[in-house]
Amino acid sequence: MRKYFIAGNWKMNHSVSETVEFCRQFRVKGLKNISSDIVLFPPSISITSMVKILEDTPVKIGGQNMHKESNGAFTGEISSEMFVDSGCDYILIGHSERRQYFNETNELVNQKLKKALETKLKPVICIGEKLEEREAGKTEDVILKQLKKGLKDITEAEMGNIIIAYEPIWAIGTGLTAKPEQAQEIHGLIRNAIKNDYSEHLGKNLRILYGGSAKVQNAKSLLLEKDIDGLLIGGASLKVNDFYEIIQIAENLTNN
Ligand code: 13P
Repeated sequence: MRKYFIAGNWKMNHSVSETVEFCRQFRVKGLKNISSDIVLFPPSISITSMVKILEDTPVKIGGQNMHKESNGAFTGEISSEMFVDSGCDYILIGHSERRQYFNETNELVNQKLKKALETKLKPVICIGEKLEEREAGKTEDVILKQLKKGLKDITEAEMGNIIIAYEPIWAIGTGLTAKPEQAQEIHGLIRNAIKNDYSEHLGKNLRILYGGSAKVQNAKSLLLEKDIDGLLIGGASLKVNDFYEIIQIAENLTNN
């Protein structure tokens, strides 16, 4: 039985009160019997409210970004320990928007990853190529470099707690989704790289999510691909009906 991982990255969307309303409506739909892993990544300011409202449901919560240090004079930043203390289980690391607008490098991604693992926060590490890199035939090189540098010195045991999200930058927020076979090709590449660098067993069990305009209309065809274990959804996760429908699509694939 395939257990999918369906996550919503809200980015800088939904205020605290909008989050509370979303969670109320989400709960009413019925979350108890869901077998997929469901994770929401709201803006940090809403995390404690969300944790409280979804407490007795299987939904897990994560932060969208963290600092590599535990505490200190880093105005505006939040540490891994603080996310854990607020009730988070997951953290997004290296989202392309962080790389693009906040100059995050593969080296910094690697440092954050180690800190998250040390504090028992499960990292979802995001990788993906730009349009010009794809057009120049450099997709494989870019992905393999992000993996190599991002996962530097990460042990096999630690890898067991890491999730990888493949998010082609040209498909994020653009309405352009990678075709299922295009996504599958890169997911296969990622899985093989992990099999080679670590072990067959780890590669097989690694969860690789697809992100980039995933929505109700394309969720099924993406999830049917062999190496796509779930979705990291931006825009469509902001609407409670759409997010729930995508969860139902995953549930139906698991149970039928
Ligand atoms: P969209 O689904 O809005 O394209 O965003 C994808 C994403 O960046 C998820 O992290």
